[in-house]
Amino acid sequence: MEFACEDFKVGKCEGEKLVDGETMPLVLQPPEPSKNDLNTLLSALEKNKDWFEEMIIKNSAVLLRGFDVTNAEGFNDIVEAFDWPDIRYVGPAPRTHIYKRIWTANEGPLSEFIYYHHEMVLIKEHPKKVILFCEIPPPEGGETPFVPSFCVTERMLEEFPEVVEEIEEKGLKYTFTALSNNNTTSMRGRGWEDAFGTSDRAEAERRANALGMEMEWLPNGGVTTILGPRPLTRVFDGRKGRRMWFNTVVGMHGKELSSATMADGTEIPERVVKRCGEIIEEESIQFKWQKGDVLFLDNLALLHGRRPSLPPRKVLVATCK
Ligand SMILES: [Fe+2]
Repeated sequence: MEFACEDFKVGKCEGEKLVDGETMPLVLQPPEPSKNDLNTLLSALEKNKDWFEEMIIKNSAVLLRGFDVTNAEGFNDIVEAFDWPDIRYVGPAPRTHIYKRIWTANEGPLSEFIYYHHEMVLIKEHPKKVILFCEIPPPEGGETPFVPSFCVTERMLEEFPEVVEEIEEKGLKYTFTALSNNNTTSMRGRGWEDAFGTSDRAEAERRANALGMEMEWLPNGGVTTILGPRPLTRVFDGRKGRRMWFNTVVGMHGKELSSATMADGTEIPERVVKRCGEIIEEESIQFKWQKGDVLFLDNLALLHGRRPSLPPRKVLVATCK
């Protein structure tokens, strides 16, 4: 599809990559510097809604840069310019509600690397779009790198065709241990009470089951959550038949509080997981946040993460169906 929209000018950003003929991210700027105010942007988005969504699917990531977006209210207006319904976040990240559809992205310590993932990959319904807004760019580090998921599948198939097909056939099983709020110290460790929004065990179990998870309570008051079988890759409508690496094997395999094996219990070879981590890193796209940036990610096509950062850093998020 040719680029054709008089309301935006295509820009460039450091770190962008050409992937299978498409620039990731597609940088969209004001058509001229004086047309950078929020209201002009909102009318441009309203007017070009369908086109804009096509660009997100085509390029997987669209970065609005150079517009005068200053706070959560303005960001919320941008999100609401589209007709995408909100999807409630379920998962381990500690988030705070800021305004209407806007949340903090993750309040885990800035010193930690939040590993690459498709948002809510383990939940039945995934957001199609993850939209991020940079209110305060970090002085150093703190990038939100993202990775074209199909590239990971392609390279894993090149290097480990048998293992990939074996896992695909058997499916994956994940476990994740959450401590109780009463004895948690780690950042991932929001206790299970926070993760499931209740301190009642039976209710937590009902909610977990509804999400397709089994629970095993531990003597220390924590709980191990078991999920599976889950797929290794997925193909989604409208994404060129690409096989997305829609799993969280590298993030959860062999960790203190989590595991990933094949669904029948077969271990996934350590070297395969290690190499997969290297491939994800090699395929990743990095850009530096600038104040006022708004980044639209096609969550079905991209993994994303967060690099460790010096404070302050404020990135807000909205997730959409
Ligand atoms: Fe995320």
